[in-house]
Amino acid sequence: MKPPSQRLVRGQILHFLADPGPADDPAAWQFFDDGGLWIEDGHIRAAGPWDTLTAALPADVRSSATIDDHRGRLVLPGFIDTHLHYPQAGIVGAFSHQLLDWLNEHTFPAEARFADPAEATRSAEFVVGRLLAHGTTTASVFATVHAHSADAFFAAAAARNLRMLCGKVLMDCHCPDALRDTAASGDRDSRALIERWHGHGRLRYSITPRFAATSTADQLRRAGELFASRPDLHLQSHLAENPAEIAWIASLFPERRDYLDVYAHFGLLGPRAIHAHCIHLDDEQRRRLAASGSAVAFCPSSNLFLGSGFFDHAASSAAGIRVGLASDVGAGTGFSSLRTLAAAHAVGQACGTPLSALRGFYLATLGGARALYLDDFIGNFQPGREADFVVLDWSATPELAWRLERCRSLAERLFALMILGDERCIVATHVLGETAWRRA
Ligand code: GUN
Ligand code: ZN
Repeated sequence: MKPPSQRLVRGQILHFLADPGPADDPAAWQFFDDGGLWIEDGHIRAAGPWDTLTAALPADVRSSATIDDHRGRLVLPGFIDTHLHYPQAGIVGAFSHQLLDWLNEHTFPAEARFADPAEATRSAEFVVGRLLAHGTTTASVFATVHAHSADAFFAAAAARNLRMLCGKVLMDCHCPDALRDTAASGDRDSRALIERWHGHGRLRYSITPRFAATSTADQLRRAGELFASRPDLHLQSHLAENPAEIAWIASLFPERRDYLDVYAHFGLLGPRAIHAHCIHLDDEQRRRLAASGSAVAFCPSSNLFLGSGFFDHAASSAAGIRVGLASDVGAGTGFSSLRTLAAAHAVGQACGTPLSALRGFYLATLGGARALYLDDFIGNFQPGREADFVVLDWSATPELAWRLERCRSLAERLFALMILGDERCIVATHVLGETAWRRA
């Protein structure tokens, strides 16, 4: 039998054990300034101070391990993007007004081009490569209505051994003919994709009704039944993003109390369901969302770009809702979790609750894993977790270096990184311990 592969990573290790909350609870995180990770066969065996970790290693491990020396660099669990649309990478930064105009002017035409499987394959390869270049190792991803677009994304993720969620969009009304499925064909295609990909390596299927406006009651009901049919399937959609959208949903489902109640009625809430945006919710809807176990994908750059509003992260997490960070590309303005965190801080300021760096890096790592119910596998460096991690250069730009010279505490340094940093800070991205991307 082949001995297990052994790898040691040396650097400034930061990871989270819980949500630090608004008061930056020091018990929620660990930081090892000269730290180490011991990785065996792609999984974390231990994390701690370098000297202690290496002193406790069995002699054969110490002699055989590959060592990645990243001293002076920050090592974090891989970023988790809890909501993005890979077919929309080509419309990031397309001018429009708000959500419904943007969908008609840019989104639907771009997604219609995915009728061509070659467009899907090329885009999936591009997006997976760019996610890794941005330090993102897991994402919850919308394909288009075309089943082959989900195949293309899963294939690109499988080729790199990534832990990814994806689903074909369900959309059987109120959209261009070229993008419309039927309740029956959407159900059939989703089931076939589940057979092909769900549980294949690290991949999981996420049932993907686009939003309440573009599915008939029949399609929403079938999506809920499919979600309930197996305990390990995921579900993703959009909820309460924009005032005009919400008024439209109210006119389509007048018998329901509100938008959330539409999803509750059709069985689209629960553990492993994640709904993007959730900006315009009242306290009763937040209570209901929390009680259901559903999570929220917080998409600050998208919400600013489309003028959708300010997600109240403080109120949502205080209500007990799981919240993860999301780029929401293509309404979001890029894949960088650092830039998205800077936007989250700006949104927090608008709500009177600025986002601290510790809570921000929690959101981008363990918070995302918890929102996707994947925290048994990823999100921190506890023993047994899959060793997906990212190495960051603190001083990737002259402005960062200048600012960091003047920072005194770790919290200050992390905050500077979160506000001034971007993909130029990413030195290397590792998947199951192996280098998946490295800065040139
Ligand atoms: N609501 C329905 N579809 C979409 C989409 O593609 N992007 C965003 N931001 N909101 C949506
Ligand atoms: Zn979205």
